[in-house]
Amino acid sequence: MSNVDSCVVIQLSVLVILSVSITSLAEICQQDGPCLCKFDNGGEIDLGKIGLQNGSALIENYASSDGYEYSFNPCYPFSQGPGACQLIAGCQQYIANDSVYYVIGDASNPSLQYVNNTLYGQYSHTSELGITRKSIVKYICDEKAETPTVDVLGETSTAVYEFTITSKYACPFVGPTPTPTPTSPQIPWCTTDYINFIKRCHYGYDGHPEPVKLVIIQDWNGICKFPENIDIALHLYNPQSTCQGVNNRCKPSQPFSVNEEVCKEP
Ligand SMILES: *[C@@H]1O[C@H](CO)[C@@H](O)[C@H](O)[C@H]1NC(C)=O
Ligand SMILES: *[C@@H]1O[C@H](CO)[C@@H](O)[C@H](O)[C@H]1NC(C)=O
Ligand SMILES: *[C@@H]1O[C@H](CO)[C@@H](O)[C@H](O)[C@H]1NC(C)=O
Repeated sequence: MSNVDSCVVIQLSVLVILSVSITSLAEICQQDGPCLCKFDNGGEIDLGKIGLQNGSALIENYASSDGYEYSFNPCYPFSQGPGACQLIAGCQQYIANDSVYYVIGDASNPSLQYVNNTLYGQYSHTSELGITRKSIVKYICDEKAETPTVDVLGETSTAVYEFTITSKYACPFVGPTPTPTPTSPQIPWCTTDYINFIKRCHYGYDGHPEPVKLVIIQDWNGICKFPENIDIALHLYNPQSTCQGVNNRCKPSQPFSVNEEVCKEP
């Protein structure tokens, strides 16, 4: 087997191992109040960073083709008009007669669920006449969406109203990775396996460029120093580190994983 072939085989087996660990890493939202989803890995999604806090709604009087205008605000209740929509999460107003309002979601008791790496909020309200209306909001994670963008799908089935809100705050957030305190000088040292194009390092990357495809750093000291070559995949190991933390702090340009979790694919 040529060196190139063995390299391909190694990369494939690495991919298989990494994809197995991805599927086993489904996160479950442990809901804490109407705004917060907490995950086992210490991450969280806080809808309080998306909703407006000044009494307005994030989605305000958005006219839909179904003849109604919709308003919705995550986390912080808002009020609209003189009618039923007082301190609620979602409101529907009839365009043809703007004194007709329906509450389509209470702010107090939503159910938050994390499915397929996406947070869904369900906000229901039962009117005095006993009619239950429900808003389903898909919170789409987009790290680049500094200000939220919204979409109103309207009444997608009887008494069910759908919205999407895209924001960077819909991405599970883990605080900056704490840099572990060194117990020893922790001077990085590496060995290179030229046959398999793998460089194995302890504590950190030693800075010497080598013709490798994979750099593995055991006991990573949290210092953001990686090879300049963007073709090299990085595998970092440190129990205190997470994908989100490393991404926020170090922004590696390479494909990388943290403790076997794939953070950025090749
Ligand atoms: C609340 O803030 C939003 C966005 O900054 C703004 O568009 C809206 O006019 C504000 N509403 C009030 C009542 O100040
Ligand atoms: C608008 O709705 C209100 C409340 O249901 C009703 O009293 C009023 O007559 C309606 N106006 C029109 C123009 O239909
Ligand atoms: C999750 O994603 C899979 C694959 O893309 C899809 O088949 C499934 O319907 C999705 N589930 C939900 C609840 O969206």
